[in-house]
Amino acid sequence: MTEPLRLGIAGLGTVGTGVIKIIRRQAALLEARTGRTIQISAVSARDASKDRGVPLGDYAWETDPVALATRDDVDVFVELMGGHEGAAKGATEAALAAGKDVVTANKALLAIHGQALAEQAEAAGRVIRFEAAVAGGIPVIKSLTEGLAGNDVTRVMGVMNGTCNYILTQMEATGQGYNALFEECDRLGYLEADPNLDVGGIDAGHKLALLASIAFGTKPAFDNVQLEGIQRISLDDIRHAADMGYRIKLLGVAQRTARGLEQRMSPCLVPANSPLGQLEGGTNMVVIEGDAVEQIVLRGPGAGEGPTASAVMGDICDIARGFRIATFGQPATSLEEAAPAQTSLPAPHYLRMSLQDKPGALAKVAAALGNAGVSIDRMRQYGHSEPTAPVLIVTHKCTSQILQTALEDLAKTGVVEGEPVALRIEEL
Ligand code: NAP
Ligand code: HSE
Repeated sequence: MTEPLRLGIAGLGTVGTGVIKIIRRQAALLEARTGRTIQISAVSARDASKDRGVPLGDYAWETDPVALATRDDVDVFVELMGGHEGAAKGATEAALAAGKDVVTANKALLAIHGQALAEQAEAAGRVIRFEAAVAGGIPVIKSLTEGLAGNDVTRVMGVMNGTCNYILTQMEATGQGYNALFEECDRLGYLEADPNLDVGGIDAGHKLALLASIAFGTKPAFDNVQLEGIQRISLDDIRHAADMGYRIKLLGVAQRTARGLEQRMSPCLVPANSPLGQLEGGTNMVVIEGDAVEQIVLRGPGAGEGPTASAVMGDICDIARGFRIATFGQPATSLEEAAPAQTSLPAPHYLRMSLQDKPGALAKVAAALGNAGVSIDRMRQYGHSEPTAPVLIVTHKCTSQILQTALEDLAKTGVVEGEPVALRIEEL
């Protein structure tokens, strides 16, 4: 029998306790599959007195994650604390410097510091594995780096944040507002420590940047992701989208073009009867297009204890089996700098605005749109009791650049209150 694989696990929250449960419950199965015992040497979290629902008495306790990461009886540092600075970054760097492999679920850390960490790992002959960081239980990193390695990938897109999809679908199903649904997401273990990362689209943007790096052989470039969250989506938007046969999804698209790398994460309308439109709750979906494979669709639970721990275990088993691969699927030093590009593909758009209810207001809106080159497909003004009237417009296809000009012109009309909500309609 080969030596056991010894783990140091930092972070005993949703994901960390999920990993410990699998290691305890599936010890025999893991050993049969990898040929080694998977052992936990030590664990770390902030509060040593908290009952975490799993027995921890067999493992050494370290208060300092750096001390845990550098222990002699740790082969693999499993980072499940979160955050792109502080303990997670310091302990990951310390682990690599001490000659440990790293498994992490931390998309923020890798989207921001992934290039430097990958270079450090590869210089030290170590691996960093992060299946759990993108799309929870879906083995999308493995699919891209291994199964699709023979493809020139042209586009990656999908729904990659369970919290947002849960909120958007449950708002429609139950009519509940954000706050009640946040509580549900918390109970399900979906939320980031800072839920603004979820609803602001930042968490999903981190994930898209990581997928784009692997897909296109480019350095992770989170700063170049065009980001918009779901905070301004109202129940009215969801209902109106449904009336028109659409559902609203926080959709990410990364695409290589002759102009550079497009990366956008934003709420979009998609046909309600399309595979993306039918995603419920915390489910994620990633669509990958390549020259040889054409298109594959991966779907599964995107967050929560079991699915995320499942992905962490896949990485741990690979290391136990001796399977080693560069962080982003090719040597970090060979990754190219990607020039950022804006989407130039025209699409119809949904607009919602609050219009002053007075003669000529609608004419000014129509003129502003028309002058910018935006043609109106459908328009609706609906019941109201206030001095402003909610107005919905669906445009014919136009580019984001033209729409942006139109929105700037709308602001100058003096009849639109606040900022309009503008969502791209993706006819997938
Ligand atoms: P969580 O429930 O908030 O747990 C975080 C754990 O890290 C807690 O046990 C906390 O200790 C510990 N911790 C935080 N800062 C620490 C520090 N400075 N020193 C020592 N321990 C520290 O978070 P989670 O949901 O498990 O997420 C963990 C990671 O997985 C994050 O990177 C997250 O983005 C990622 N992820 C989560 C999910 C999901 O569905 N939850 C899915 C994919 C990826 P205390 O318990 O003592 O406070
Ligand atoms: N907060 C994340 C989500 C966890 O809701 O998708 C999974 O990465």
